[in-house]
Amino acid sequence: MTAFEVLMPAEGMPVISERIEQRATLHRLWQAPDREAALAELAPRIRAIVATWHAVKIDAPLMSRFPNLEIVASFGVGYDHIDAAWAGEHGIVVTNTPEVLDEDVADIAMALTIGAVRRLPQAERHLREGRWPSGSYPLTASLRQRTMGILGLGRIGKQIAKRARAFGLDVVYHGRKAQDDAPYLYYPTLLGMAKACDILVVAAPGGAGTRHIVNRDVLRALGPDGVLVNIARGSLVDEAALIEALREGEILAAGLDVFENEPHVPPALLALDNVVALPHVGSASHHTRRAMANLVVDNLFSWIDGKGPLTPTAETPWRR
Ligand code: 8YV
Repeated sequence: MTAFEVLMPAEGMPVISERIEQRATLHRLWQAPDREAALAELAPRIRAIVATWHAVKIDAPLMSRFPNLEIVASFGVGYDHIDAAWAGEHGIVVTNTPEVLDEDVADIAMALTIGAVRRLPQAERHLREGRWPSGSYPLTASLRQRTMGILGLGRIGKQIAKRARAFGLDVVYHGRKAQDDAPYLYYPTLLGMAKACDILVVAAPGGAGTRHIVNRDVLRALGPDGVLVNIARGSLVDEAALIEALREGEILAAGLDVFENEPHVPPALLALDNVVALPHVGSASHHTRRAMANLVVDNLFSWIDGKGPLTPTAETPWRR
């Protein structure tokens, strides 16, 4: 029997390649001296692509180069860097890694919320830079009497809501549709929700359909006490409008784990004192990243064994 051949366009966690190599032939594209030549030579034999990093696009022109491609197994819950619709139309399975990261990402959403409202990194800088003996750190805004609006009440959004309730916040949400079993008030429009809340947490998928939906009007509607938190994708927020709103005091602060053009962050954003920024670390704990890595490989092996994908995306043709 010929070996099952797998292509990895970019480097991932060692456990991914180590496990794959126990059962398949793995080609590390990022190590090829000539990427184009390697692609041309390998293309007919590749049956799986393992996507490890959301900055590397797995689009139709790339996938169409592999006539025998069966599955794209992706690391991460968000897959806006993969043309899953095209894949689905061409009988190619796309898997992602839902659930295993929900709680870690929700923790970071709360950390950014508290960090932005209570100005924790700024207060720490005050201490570290030796300014405490000259004066206490100024008083800040508070979480008390606030309403958190969650944009996208999916698995991660629900974990954020649970945490926010434990912190005494009112929770409301907006998404494509109201969820019968959700115990939170639903707003059919994002603008309507932004008017009714003062912490907006972005937890919806990226992609063309949600690009820049958090725009200047939405930010203005949050008001001068408003806080924007984004743990989803930078593409949902109009970053230029956000910089303007923060600079003009149209909103109070922002807590951001994701940006439009990662890993590059606009200097104008970082220059603002009312921004708490993290380098996309929502899921980046040993525990969760290991679970994500194993789920990538488990999906691939389940496919190789003829048992189908474990966590196929919505666009995937596979039905159990
Ligand atoms: C990962 C993420 O860091 O799951 C996601 O969608 O954004 C993160 O958990 C990222 O996908 C790795 O590329």
